[in-house]
Amino acid sequence: MDGQHTDTGNNEGRNVVLSARGVTVGFGSKVVLDNLDLDIYRGEILGFVGASGTGKSVLMRTVLRLLPRRSGTIKILGQDFDELDEPQRNALDMRLGVLFQQGALFSSLTVKENIQVPMREYLDLPQSLMDELAELKIRLVGLAADAADKYPSELSGGMIKRAALARALALDPELVFLDEPTSGLDPIGAAEFDELIARLRDTLGLTVYMVTHDLDSLFSVCDRIAVLGKKRVLVEGSIDDMLACDDPWVQAYFKGKRARSIVPQNGRAGDDSLAQDSRGK
Ligand SMILES: Nc1ncnc2c1ncn2[C@@H]1O[C@H](COP(=O)(O)OP(=O)(O)OP(=O)(O)O)[C@@H](O)[C@H]1O
Ligand SMILES: [Mg+2]
Repeated sequence: MDGQHTDTGNNEGRNVVLSARGVTVGFGSKVVLDNLDLDIYRGEILGFVGASGTGKSVLMRTVLRLLPRRSGTIKILGQDFDELDEPQRNALDMRLGVLFQQGALFSSLTVKENIQVPMREYLDLPQSLMDELAELKIRLVGLAADAADKYPSELSGGMIKRAALARALALDPELVFLDEPTSGLDPIGAAEFDELIARLRDTLGLTVYMVTHDLDSLFSVCDRIAVLGKKRVLVEGSIDDMLACDDPWVQAYFKGKRARSIVPQNGRAGDDSLAQDSRGK
């Protein structure tokens, strides 16, 4: 396992499940991430925020080896993909679950078939067992059993998110990457989804890396927050660390109008109507 966390707070001795050091990613002359460091600890829900276009999805795709990096090292569950052979990479991949920001499900497949995609890719199981496992995952994420044979076009936005989460959980991963899982959901649907994530973390012992613009999620379910800006992690830590950070974007985000009714700020409540904006895009 990789060593100890080096840069913030009270994290010494915690079990690091993902450690990125000096990660640089770019496209042509454009550098998106420059010398970025990040740690994720076992069992936590890490909320990852940053302005649109700062590279949150790029970082997730880089960590998953879907994008190349120019430099830096990334260790996941103590292992560096670059040092593994193909079977070892597959074994490590199976320990990761992913819910992408775009294209969460294959539109031509039913929910059950979508959930079985990773099973087919990595395991050699009889169809009857895959069906049972898919039904289990469907129940786990709070979908009705009859969702199994529906196509994505027949589902609501919230159901699609749950089905995509079921697919991310298909192989019983330890570390789950969620890219804006509550975007597009109404506040109640988003809060329910947050509760589901927290419950799954508690019952399955998951570690969750969650990109989100949702201030409610950040305050209600995230144990720690990391802010991406200036091509690196500007600050990581608790809500208090965010409030104490003097970076203008972090200040605006966590102390701005839309945050005021959620974040305790010297006991002053803010304008409730503006809080609705916190559900983001
Ligand atoms: N495959 C690619 N080729 C070229 N540029 C890309 C590619 N993928 C992302 N980018 C660029 O990298 C930057 C970061 O994109 P990214 O999708 O990571 O943003 P983000 O922080 O996830 O934003 P959002 O909050 O809107 O989802 C953007 O300028 C984007 O145009
Ligand atoms: Mg994104």
